[in-house]
Parts: sequence; C-alpha cells; structure tokens
Amino acid sequence: MGEGRRIRDVLLQPPMDESVEVSGWVRTRRDAAGLSFLEINDGSCLANLQVVIEQDLINYATEVRKLSTGCSVRVEGAIVPSPAKGQTVELRARAVTVIGWADPRVYPLQKKRHSFEFLRSVPHLRFRTNALGAVARIRSILSFAVHRFFHEQGFLQVHTPVITTSDCEGAGEMFTVTALEPEQLCRSNAFADDFFGRHAGLTESGQLQAEIFALSHSRVYTFGPTFRAENSNTSRHLAEFWMVEPEMAFCDLDGNMAVAEAMVKFLVTEVLEQSAEDLALFERFIAPGLLDRLQHLRDQPFVRLTYTEAVSALERSGKTFAFPVQWGNDLQAEHERYLCEEFAGAPVIVTNYPEQIKAFYMRLDDDERTVAAMDVLVPGIGELIGGSQREERLDVLTRRMLAAGLDLEEYGWYLDLRRFGSVPHAGFGLGFERLVQFVTGMQNIRDVIPFPRTPGNAPC
Ligand code: 4AD
Ligand code: MG
Repeated sequence: MGEGRRIRDVLLQPPMDESVEVSGWVRTRRDAAGLSFLEINDGSCLANLQVVIEQDLINYATEVRKLSTGCSVRVEGAIVPSPAKGQTVELRARAVTVIGWADPRVYPLQKKRHSFEFLRSVPHLRFRTNALGAVARIRSILSFAVHRFFHEQGFLQVHTPVITTSDCEGAGEMFTVTALEPEQLCRSNAFADDFFGRHAGLTESGQLQAEIFALSHSRVYTFGPTFRAENSNTSRHLAEFWMVEPEMAFCDLDGNMAVAEAMVKFLVTEVLEQSAEDLALFERFIAPGLLDRLQHLRDQPFVRLTYTEAVSALERSGKTFAFPVQWGNDLQAEHERYLCEEFAGAPVIVTNYPEQIKAFYMRLDDDERTVAAMDVLVPGIGELIGGSQREERLDVLTRRMLAAGLDLEEYGWYLDLRRFGSVPHAGFGLGFERLVQFVTGMQNIRDVIPFPRTPGNAPC
C-alpha cells in the first residue's frame, strides 16, 4: 500500500509495459467472452482507467465477476496501448485485490446520472461522481491559486479569528457562541457571565481584524470560513461560506478595484490552464458557453459604473423588475445580473453606493450621500465581491459609528487605528463559493462546497 500510482499520472505519462499498481473505486464493470473490463477512478482526474482482467486470474469467478459500482480495488499489471476506442492506454491486470465491497442492492450511486438534488441527500458519497468530483478539484486549484496570487504580490497572510466580539457587517446576522445553558440565556445581561464575559459570535468577515494588520504590514489578506445567520434560501447564499479578504494600506478605491480585477483574472486563468478536462465536462453537461465566458472575463477589462450610473441604466432598460429601481434602494440580484449580462456584457464594478445602505466602515464621499464602496458583479451570479475604501478619518468614523448604533467603547481598538498613524486603506471580500459557481457554471451554491450549511440543513 502507498506505493501505487495516481491514475492522473498514469494517463498523463503512461509508464508503458512497466509493472504498476493502481487503486481506486469501480465506476463500471463490463463482461465479454473470457474477460472483464473495469473502469476505475481514484479522484485524481476525471478520466477513468480501463482495467482488462482475463478469466485465468485466480479470483476471477469468485470476486472479479462480483465487482460493482463503488467497490474499492487494487490492481497490479502492465500499462499497454489500448486497441479499443475511448482510451489510449489500459491496464492489463495480473492481480486484482478487492479492498472494500459496496453491495449494489444498497449502494446509492449507480452508473446512471443522478440529480444534484438527490446527491445532496448522500453528502458522504456525492464527491465520487464526475461533476462533484470535478467541482472538488477545481475548488482546490482555486484555493491554492488564491494563496499564490497574494504570495507573489507580497501580501502577508493573516489568520483572523473565527470567534469574535465585533459585528463587522452590522446586519444582525451573527451566530451567537455561548457556553451557557439555555435557561441561563434568559437572564438579563446573561453574556456578562458567559465564557468571554460578553456577547461573542462566529465571524461574518475577517475584515476588521485584517485592518489591524494592514496598518502594520501594509498589504495583507485572510482566507477563511465566515458565517451568517441569514435566512436566505437561495442558490447563492450559505450560512457558512469561505471568503477571500485582502486589505491594503496606502490604497484608495481605484487601487482596490485594480487588485480585485487582477485577482479574479488570475484565478480564472489558473483554472483555464490547469483544469481543461474538468472544465470541458461543465461546458458539455452543465453550462454550455462556459469556456467563452471565462476566456472573455480573462481578456476584457471590467466595466466600471457608479451606483448612480447603474440606477439610470436600469431605469432606461425598459425592463420590469420584481424589485423597483430607485436611487437609495440596494441593487437586487436581478438588477445586478441585468447590468453585467445585458447592459455591459462583461463583469461590472459598481461604485459609490448610497451611504445609508452600506456598512459603517466605508469611506464617506465628498458629496456626503455616497460611500467609496465597490461591488464586482459577474454574469450568471451577480455579486461576487463586496468591498470599499475604509473611513480613515477619526471624526467621520466616530460620527458614522454612532449613527449605526455601535458602542464606541467596544470598538475602541478600531478607532485607535485612526487615532494613531491612520492612513487611507481599502479592501474587499470575495465569496469563494460564488467564484467556484462562476468558474464551473454550477447552478446551486450547495453543490460547490463540501458540506453546505443552510437554514434547516447541517446533516454531518
Ligand atoms: O459584501 P459582503 O457582505 O462584504 C463583507 O463582508 C466585507 N466585510 C468584505 C470586506 O470588505 N473585507 O460579503 C463579501 C462577499 C459577497 O460579495 C459575496 O460574494 C459573499 O461574500 N457572500 C456570500 N456568499 C455565500 N453566502 C452568503 N450568505 C454570502 N454573503 C456574502
Ligand atoms: Mg455585499
């Protein structure tokens, strides 16, 4: 064990006529006169390896002829050119060891295609299928590429806390973390007796803590899980999702947009270069036109619009939207999608939103009606990134925090960053699952994260 080769390596550089050992899970078995064919897959790539097993093998009748989808096997043999269509090489077995059986009467995955909805009911097995297996590989490629992008640009990685006492987005969507018993929670001021001596919760964003490091190390990023008790049962919302959050000192909104655009282009380019086989699967079965969309994003500049320009484009569209378009209202997914899919035909960065619909930390513009916010919108998804230049002026920030009803004492550390050596700074958050959705064309966000948490759903 452990000596075997990954199927991906065997297929990329076939070790012709060498003796090899390969392990994996049976996708299908087909029998012909005096021999059987197994398609096996080990998750290293989309393609299966065809194994040819002759009837003179010692366990042919007793075991090989009983193998079914989902069984795990180890095969020793020689890699030879395949005479048949469909693969260039195959593995001629000298020995087949059954590692684990999977009773076909109860194993939930069969050769046929299953719906994504059905696959969500078997979260522990669904990544053995072609589409979900490809999602997992692309997610991993993207995650690594995020770190590579920032590393190559000299950003410092910061591990921001999962448990926090700061409510970053201030939308009342923080999950409480408590060590109290349910009956103790009913007492007034209960959290004073709680584990941290005050109310704590799961982070909604690492931004505020990343700002601390931006103001000591200039260019930093954090990439971790974030949580929102948001009761949105949509194909774009999760209660637990991963966010990529850079934060840059000596940086304004223009600099912020440039980093966001460069990062998204870098990530898409990485996947185009490294995941061609998996992308072809999505193009063929899930999202026709996907490759064009990705190449277009890579090659074209993002379109930049102020919120005010976006609202007038929506008003002039002649479309009827479910949510009314009016200066001062937040943009809804339908508006966002119109802007990038029809109006611009490209990703769009919308900037300078009304102050009253955005978070307290965003820098107030000179007109005092808007803030230096930016949302990056992409076709098929809508909002992929939300960010802003941060308010670095102590007096303005204090005023906005009071207006937002925040306790200035609890955020003393945040104000200190403006009191001592304050500098213009900016950052953003990219929803990692929305990126995986965009890159794969997967419709439902629940299918691009291994263990989706949504209202009423956290099975394992
Ligand atoms: O726009 P949001 O709420 O921004 C922030 O949290 C900032 N503090 C980030 C920053 O400036 N450092 O969230 C950022 C992104 C969104 O654009 C979206 O892609 C994703 O996170 N997102 C979600 N993804 C899945 N499920 C949810 N419930 C999400 N909420 C936000
Ligand atoms: Mg947002």
